[in-house]
Order: sequence, then C-alpha cells, then structure tokens
Amino acid sequence: MIKKICCIGAGYVGGPTMAVIAQKCPNIQVTVVDLNEKRIAAWNDVNVENIPIYEPGLSEIVAESRGRNLFFSTDVDKAIAEADMIFISVNTPTKTYGSGKGLAADLKHIELCARQIARVATTNKIVVEKSTLPVRTAEAIKSILHNTGNGVEFQILSNPEFLAEGTAVADLLNPDRVLIGGDQDAKGQEAVQALVDIYANWVPKEKILTTNVWSSELSKLVANAFLAQRVSSINAISELCEKTGANVNEVSKAIGMDSRIGPKFLKASVGFGGSCFQKDILNLVYIAQSYGLQEVADYWEQVIIMNNHQKRRFSKNIVTTLYNTVADKKIAFLGWAFKKDTNDTRESAAIYVADDLLNEQAKIAVYDPKVGQDQVYADMNYLESRSPEANKKGITVMLDPYEACKDAHAIAIMTEWDEFITYDWKKIYQNMNKPAFVFDGRNILDKNELEKIGFKYQAIGS
Ligand SMILES: NC(=O)c1ccc[n+]([C@@H]2O[C@H](COP(=O)([O-])OP(=O)(O)OC[C@H]3O[C@@H](n4cnc5c(N)ncnc54)[C@H](O)[C@@H]3O)[C@@H](O)[C@H]2O)c1
Repeated sequence: MIKKICCIGAGYVGGPTMAVIAQKCPNIQVTVVDLNEKRIAAWNDVNVENIPIYEPGLSEIVAESRGRNLFFSTDVDKAIAEADMIFISVNTPTKTYGSGKGLAADLKHIELCARQIARVATTNKIVVEKSTLPVRTAEAIKSILHNTGNGVEFQILSNPEFLAEGTAVADLLNPDRVLIGGDQDAKGQEAVQALVDIYANWVPKEKILTTNVWSSELSKLVANAFLAQRVSSINAISELCEKTGANVNEVSKAIGMDSRIGPKFLKASVGFGGSCFQKDILNLVYIAQSYGLQEVADYWEQVIIMNNHQKRRFSKNIVTTLYNTVADKKIAFLGWAFKKDTNDTRESAAIYVADDLLNEQAKIAVYDPKVGQDQVYADMNYLESRSPEANKKGITVMLDPYEACKDAHAIAIMTEWDEFITYDWKKIYQNMNKPAFVFDGRNILDKNELEKIGFKYQAIGS
C-alpha cells in the first residue's frame, strides 16, 4: 500500500497531476518538490488564484487538498526519503549542446533526480518516470539506482502523461487511457499493480493499460508525433487550398467525417507550439537516426519542417499584404500563449512570427489574457535574435486588447482564446489605421461579419 508519494518537478505536469491524485486519494500524502523556490512559493500562495500554472479548474482542486494531503516544498531530500513512490516529472528539453544538439532530449535533470534518489533513499522505492523520455531511459535510471550498494531496492515504472495543457484537469479526471509500463517479473508486476491501484480510485480499470517499459516510453513519443503530424498535414493542405480556391475548413469537415480519419486535430492554423510536440518529434528523429533508420527519421522530421514553414509563411504574408513593408507599422497580436486556456508560451508560434516582424522593423503590441510582459520579453530574449533593449523597443505588452489594437495597421490572431470572438469588432475597427487587416492565425473569427464592418480579413487556408 502506497502511503506517501513524492513528485519531483512542480511544473505543468507535476502540479496538476499530483493535485488530482491528492484529491482522489485522500489517504495518500502527496508532496510536490521543486528546486525553483519562486514556483513553490507560488503553489503555496495563500491566494490560490496565484498558483503558477493557469488551467481551468485547477485552483479549485488545489484549494481542496492543499495542506490536507497535498504539499509543495523545496525540501527534495526529505520528500524522497519519506516516500514509497517517487514520480519524476522534471523537464526534458531538447539538448542545446554537444552530441545530439538540437535533436536529442537533454536528460541531465533526469539523471540528477536519479542520483539524488540513490543518495537519499534508505527504504525501498518505486520510481515512476512521468516525464516524457527517450525509449530505454529506464535502463540508465536503473543503472544509477542499482549501483548505490546500500541494499535499497528500486522498481522503475514508465507512466507517461497524456494530458493536454488547457484541458489538463478534465484530461486527468477522465483520461482516454492511463499507460503504465513495468518489468515483466514478479516484483515489476507488483510495482505496476501499486500504481494501477492508485489510478483505479477514479479511472475505470479497462482504461488502465499495462505494457513493458519500452512500449510505454515509446508510446508517448509516438502519440505526440501522430498528433503533431495531423496538424502539419492539414496545414500543408491549407497552403494548397489558398492556391486552388478550396477552403480548408470545408476540406477538414469533409475528411473528418470519415470515421477512419475522425474530426479532431484537423484545424488549420499558424502552426503548433508548446513544449512537447517539437521536442518529442526531434527526439524520435534522433532515436531513429541513432539506430541508422534514416528514412524513418526523415519522415518524422518533415512534420517539423512543415510547422516551421507555416509560421514563416504567416509572417511573410503579413508583410506582403501590407504593401511589402511593415516598417514602423503597428501590428497588434491577440494572444501570446501557444494555445487557449493556458499561460504556457513555450514554442508559441507568436514568438517566431514576432521575431520575423521585428526583423522587418514592425512595432508589435501584444495582448494575452493570461500572459504578462515579463514572459513576453523573456520569450523574445531567449531567441537571442537581438538585444533585450531592441525587443523592448519593438514590442509593447498591453493590459487591454482595445488599446493593443488602437492605431494598428493589422491584427494577428495568434491564440484561439474564446474572448476574442466576443470583442466589439466595430469599435476595434474604428480606432485602427485603414485599410484595417485581420490575419486570423487560428481561424476563429467570422469572415463575413468582419468584412461587413470593413476589415480586410484573411484566414489560413481560404
Ligand atoms: N507540458 C505538457 O503538456 C506535458 C504533457 C505531457 C508530458 N510532459 C512531459 O512532462 C515533463 C515535465 O514537463 P512540464 O511541462 O511539467 O515541465 P516544467 O518545466 O513546467 O516543470 C519541470 C519542473 O521540474 C523542476 N526541476 C528540474 N530539475 C529538478 C530537480 N533536479 N529537482 C527538483 N526539481 C527539478 C523545474 O524547476 C521545473 O519547475 C517533460 O518531460 C514533458 O515532456 C509535458
């Protein structure tokens, strides 16, 4: 029986996942730890609305369990020492140095966790890989843990997380499936069962899949690759639609009604973002390459190439349409997060489109309901395309969308926030430079309505 859980990493996965486990398993003490003191302080903020991650429904769940059986702490050693089960939920970004640079997953945080667990543990532990990891990572973790020589026994499970940001709580409460990979021997299966028992508190048994460790690790990368592939597939068709007079929304609907294809993830857009799709596909490409499977690697790499093309094509079209120059013209960005209902901006298309437009000397005004100016500047500075001063000069971040659009030559819809649809578009139009353009990077606005007002409206793929 698991009594105490520790989760290393209080991010977009660790935070919501543990909040739901704590809510559904009131008899288990769940401690989420992180090295980032600011992040932990925010999780512990007396005002639960100030928790560091915005997800619909999350603050309510945290409020219910925090202080009862859900704790956030920076004391990683203590939480490891006390726990029966340890989830590793740290970040695994693309490597930016050395061999595999730009493709492979950087596993330094994972290895540090394994070493810390090895150092601190004095009782047997089940270690759960919650982070998305290259296939066969469990081998490395095992090797570090099993060589401590202190007699402690470890079981390693793979339990990748399939939640989507923006719907994390709903996905966790009602997952399509929970995947648990473990060793096939008796002790491995005992550990698998301990984790199955936790999820079985709220997930129907038939949705809890158990596999070997390698299938579980690989399935997560493959799931993200397939999802991203659908986005790139429909985006590739969007460009063809623009040339042929077909309308990508109509094409999506027509093909999505085929039950073999299905309707989800077929919306054309300025491109996918987020911390996972790109890094996980690059990782898949790297793994394929490292086994000498060049055709497999090239096949999946094309998903990324298409996504980059779609972002570039969007910014290029803005420049071309605005009479081949945006120098000193104000362009308003509605949305900065990589998708609606999250404050996560990692790899957001907005960052790359802004970068292109700043290179053309545009002036950008950003409004996002959940992203503030510090984050916008941090994202731009991270690119290192220009100095922080130049980014500050080129971009202003506004607290009011109507102010952001005032005197703009064009508006670019970068995130599909619902509130954008209900804005007073007549009022926005009145205060803009004419002709007033809308470039709808998420295909959420009504073309007829906007054109009736006087806007020059362009969607993706029509
Ligand atoms: N974000 C998603 O939607 C999503 C979905 C499924 C899976 N994943 C995977 O889950 C993992 C975590 O993603 P995330 O978005 O939560 O990342 P994140 O960057 O939001 O959070 C990771 C946290 O781990 C902490 N950390 C790193 N090393 C540490 C250490 N040694 N000790 C203590 N804390 C440490 C960091 O400070 C950070 O707060 C990644 O592997 C990701 O691929 C993410």
